[in-house]
Amino acid sequence: MPEKRWFWATLTLSSITIVSVVLAAWELVENRLFRDADYITLHYLYITRGVASSLLLAFWAAWFVLHQRRKSEADLRRSRDLYRGLLEAFPGAVILYDAELRVLEWNAPAERMYGYPRDEILGARLPILPQPKTAELEDFLRRVQSGVAVLDVETLRQPRSGEPFEVQLSLLPFREGPGPLCFLEVTSDIRERVRWRRQMMEIEKLTSMGKMAAGTAHHLNSPLAALLIRTELIRRHSTGPAFDADLARIEEGLQFCRHFVQRLLDFTRVMPLEKAPQDLATVIESIAGFFQPAILSRQVNLTVDTSEGRGQLVLADRNQLETLLLTLLSNALDAVPAGGEIHLRCRRSPGTVGFTVSDNGSGISAAHLEHVFEPFFTTKEPGKGTGLGLAIARNVVMEHGGSIAIESQPGEGTTAIVDLPLAAVGEAIEKVVP
Ligand SMILES: Nc1ncnc2c1ncn2[C@@H]1O[C@H](COP(=O)(O)OP(=O)(O)OP(=O)(O)O)[C@@H](O)[C@H]1O
Ligand SMILES: [Mg+2]
Repeated sequence: MPEKRWFWATLTLSSITIVSVVLAAWELVENRLFRDADYITLHYLYITRGVASSLLLAFWAAWFVLHQRRKSEADLRRSRDLYRGLLEAFPGAVILYDAELRVLEWNAPAERMYGYPRDEILGARLPILPQPKTAELEDFLRRVQSGVAVLDVETLRQPRSGEPFEVQLSLLPFREGPGPLCFLEVTSDIRERVRWRRQMMEIEKLTSMGKMAAGTAHHLNSPLAALLIRTELIRRHSTGPAFDADLARIEEGLQFCRHFVQRLLDFTRVMPLEKAPQDLATVIESIAGFFQPAILSRQVNLTVDTSEGRGQLVLADRNQLETLLLTLLSNALDAVPAGGEIHLRCRRSPGTVGFTVSDNGSGISAAHLEHVFEPFFTTKEPGKGTGLGLAIARNVVMEHGGSIAIESQPGEGTTAIVDLPLAAVGEAIEKVVP
């Protein structure tokens, strides 16, 4: 403690100096003024001198100690402010707790991340540990006690409200002077990072699945076509209605396989688009006409209103645009009962032109709605839906720089909304003057 020793040395030296000065001054006064004083006067004079020098010394010591104390307090306050400032400025949640998991320190990011105010949590037992992670923390504490810091581990912590979420955690030993060993837990919220990583893995999986599917579909395409021709030939040598019914079932199965293979090829194919300015209203009208027989056979009412899209050009691949419309129309047709309604309308907003396909069919539950664009998601029975229709539709819209959304009320109906960017003026002129 060099500072303490310095303090006492200063106090002693200054006290000796003060006493010497008092004594010297007194001697001077005594020699000058009390040269002929009697014994009693001299006696009182010595007593007064003793009292005066003691008082002066006591006063000096008190002042000195007080001054030093104030200085130390100011130093302490400054270093406390610095320590708190550093703690609060730290981007992650910093929590200090003892071996019984009693919280000793809790910074502002910890308040924000876990929802517990500092004043409430200090002294309480660590409340953010999810039950399944208790054994893990015990293991971490043992490791830290044996001198090994736990660094950058991914785990879960539970906020005051809501579900446990992913955090990156470091646990370090912390000891204040000769006090007991405590634990410094530093965590940061990595939900976003984990979400991205999962998405990347999903994309990776889908990409390899897509490649595999494309290869498989390619190999199946020709044998399926051959099988369909064979069934057609067999039908010509039919031997009775029972045989015909079996054949029809085989044919239906083969048709679905062919449809599935075609969808897979559409979904996985990476083909250069042949984009040209297209009048959206014209494309919609031609597809509506093409779709009419299917509509009539199911006794459904289809209304088409292209007034808002008339003369509006989009730069698009005509085949892809037709695929998009057919996909949305067949979904609507599958959803409505006989006598149901489907409305196909053009819509126009600044910079975009698009269309809506709405129906008054079964609608989609909220739980299903968030999955409808995922490849292979279908609620149709096996052999009926591939679950690729909307995935293909979304690919088409994305490739054209547009947007697609599905709104639905279960039991009331569904609306698919597509918006595409309007073709720029130069592209439009190409259409008029080819
Ligand atoms: N208009 C709609 N009304 C009700 N449900 C719909 C509608 N459009 C889509 N869905 C739901 O979204 C799911 C996925 O649609 P998607 O077009 O991708 O595949 P699918 O229609 O099941 O199969 P496929 O298109 O090969 O026939 C459907 O199974 C259905 O549950
Ligand atoms: Mg579909």
